[in-house]
Amino acid sequence: ARAALGQRNLIFVGLMGAGKSVIGRLVAQMLGVPFLDTDGEIERVSRMSITELFNAYGETEFRALETRVIERLLKQGPRVISTGGGAFINESTRGQIKTGGVSVWLKADLDVLWERVNRRDHRPLLKTANPKQSLENLMTQRYPIYAEADLTVLSENVRKEIVANDVLKAVA
Ligand code: S3P
Repeated sequence: ARAALGQRNLIFVGLMGAGKSVIGRLVAQMLGVPFLDTDGEIERVSRMSITELFNAYGETEFRALETRVIERLLKQGPRVISTGGGAFINESTRGQIKTGGVSVWLKADLDVLWERVNRRDHRPLLKTANPKQSLENLMTQRYPIYAEADLTVLSENVRKEIVANDVLKAVA
């Protein structure tokens, strides 16, 4: 898989709870390339948490910052990059990701995603009266768009090593 990637980036996209950061970190180790998480990078440059950014500036400003950060990150390859769930949904960011490397959609069904996000409280888009319903609505809106990624890998196995291996097989 490392040879197949060449100098290109490997970029994970998909909904919250799909395992983009966990699987991304593991795949980066296996490939021997640096790992970067776009949300982490946004938090680092803004010195604010994602929740603070949403509260202070709103989603539109967050998306603009996300686009700028991703554009910069994609310039140096090869790397494994995990993106926030909305990055690939934004048309200009999606264009950058499509040209910036090989995109992988980590896909899982609602109950798997919900099980993974349910105990965390750092997701502004799920601070609603019915967060599971909100997650389902995002699935409905976004799945046709995530399907435009170069590769799709099912991310439902509890053993992250298995999912990471499936990613490597898909890339190779
Ligand atoms: C978002 C997903 C989050 C974060 C922000 C918005 C989204 O990232 O970027 O809360 O629009 O789906 P994760 O997918 O890493 O949770």
